[in-house]
Amino acid sequence: MVKVLVATEKPFAAPAVAGIKEIIEGAGFGMLLLEKYTEKAQLLAAVADVDAIIIRSDKIDAEVMDAAKNLKIVVRAGAGYDNVDLEAATAHNVVVMNTPGQNANAVAELVLGMLVFAVRNFYNGKAGSELKGKKLGILAFGNVGRNVARIAQGFGMEVSAFDAYCSAESIEAAGVHAAASQAELFAENDIVSLHIPATPETKQSINKALVNTMKKGAILINTARKEVINEPELIALMAERTDLKYITDIKPDADAEFAQFEGRYFSTPKKMGAQTAEANTNAGIAAANQIVGFIKDGITKFQVNK
Ligand code: 3PG
Repeated sequence: MVKVLVATEKPFAAPAVAGIKEIIEGAGFGMLLLEKYTEKAQLLAAVADVDAIIIRSDKIDAEVMDAAKNLKIVVRAGAGYDNVDLEAATAHNVVVMNTPGQNANAVAELVLGMLVFAVRNFYNGKAGSELKGKKLGILAFGNVGRNVARIAQGFGMEVSAFDAYCSAESIEAAGVHAAASQAELFAENDIVSLHIPATPETKQSINKALVNTMKKGAILINTARKEVINEPELIALMAERTDLKYITDIKPDADAEFAQFEGRYFSTPKKMGAQTAEANTNAGIAAANQIVGFIKDGITKFQVNK
């Protein structure tokens, strides 16, 4: 029997797990569940004879693939797949897929929620400000960026975006101003929201020189990846510029140092962007269907290690 492991250190909501099980069992496969594991050894033991794995931000490296002798496919139920060693997967003849767009609305709603929290001074009782009329710059106009734009427009914000891989025409078609460059996006907006993946090009790219071009009182919000921030440089800049706020859904490595900026720094305790029942269900069910489609019919749509 084909065995599918759902390995989620941060578990899906119960209805999502039930939906995945229904699809897997409906296809005549068996489902195993490993949630809230604390040691890599638990993951290594769980993968021993599975054919497929559904994960979230769980790390799948060469050691995991060595331990998973029957493994044919890993589906990251979500967008970013920087947690999977793609080279090792290809070397092990393992197909890797993601489920783009399935959790994008959830992340985008959190962006606006965190922004309201920030402009209202983290609800400390003092008069804050409104988002209406403020200028929002969106860095990367993929599924999440587009949803952020849609919701921000509902707040009456002036929305701009820049994406090195997306044409100005496609950005303008969404009713969003296309900034000419990343530099312009940072210099011209009151708030910049990051939606870039963690790649060799983007890692550490949000640095002091770039953020220092932001307007007085600017807010930087990160619901993407911690690796894109040059943390020591951002800390140095926030020490110099007491007007800047940094709010993030990914706890920085230097969380303790950022904590000195009371009232100007906030991090969720655990990444919460995609943590809704709807997003879990959408992404989990898409992942299950992609596994069934691949194993039964060889469908490789959404493969990321081609
Ligand atoms: C993603 O890349 O899809 C998001 O960062 C969500 O990650 P999570 O599934 O670990 O919450």
